Amino acid sequence: MALRLPVDCVDASRRLDYLKTLGIDVWVARAASGVVAAAAAPVTTSRPSDPAKTARWEELKAEVTACRKCSLHTSRTQAVFGVGDMHAQWLIVGEAPGAEEDRQGEPFVGRAGQLLNAMLRAIGLARGENVYIANILKSRPPGNRDPKPEEVASCLPYLKRQILLIEPRVILAVGRIAAQNLLGTDAPLGRLRGRVHHFGELNTPLIVTYHPAYLLRTPAEKRKAWEDLKFARSVFRELSAAS
Ligand code: URA
Repeated sequence: MALRLPVDCVDASRRLDYLKTLGIDVWVARAASGVVAAAAAPVTTSRPSDPAKTARWEELKAEVTACRKCSLHTSRTQAVFGVGDMHAQWLIVGEAPGAEEDRQGEPFVGRAGQLLNAMLRAIGLARGENVYIANILKSRPPGNRDPKPEEVASCLPYLKRQILLIEPRVILAVGRIAAQNLLGTDAPLGRLRGRVHHFGELNTPLIVTYHPAYLLRTPAEKRKAWEDLKFARSVFRELSAAS
């Protein structure tokens, strides 16, 4: 039987493709149509720009580009500052650039990035539209090893400054490294999912989910990631309705 899409959901079928990429059994939605409707609803637009902030942003970018605070500057091709709308209401934080990100100078452009794009699409978001994407580290660790504590200590202040300028409404930490370093904990990722944490001076709500690279290796967990994404979206909507 064919799946009926709500008439006002012009790109619902495209979102279904993203849900399929996420491994979500979209045919389940036929009875409840909840997944379709939920996936189709867009998640608002970003705020207008502020020239003073834009200037500070450019300064910060120049600092990051020239940074030599840790030894990773010797092996990287370039620093990967982040990508997206500086006034975005959503901030996605990953771990560190991989080989492809190091080459292209943009976070999440490899296979994991393709899945991250699909995850964003599934909740009505798009890379570059009201979403900023950054990492804990701006430079690629050789061989994609985990970041060392001294590298995080050098680099995290840059991300904190980005967050103060972006002022996102919600932060989505993808993966253990992002979640543990932002939250200052060594709790396993499974214990950090499913609730709202808060980050930094602005007390920004922060939600944790799996890293897309982990989901590529462990597709059975994609359904849990979908739960996390729906949770993040509902938190965002509640905050938006309250403001
Ligand atoms: N994995 C990450 O955590 N970040 C990237 O930018 C790419 C892969």
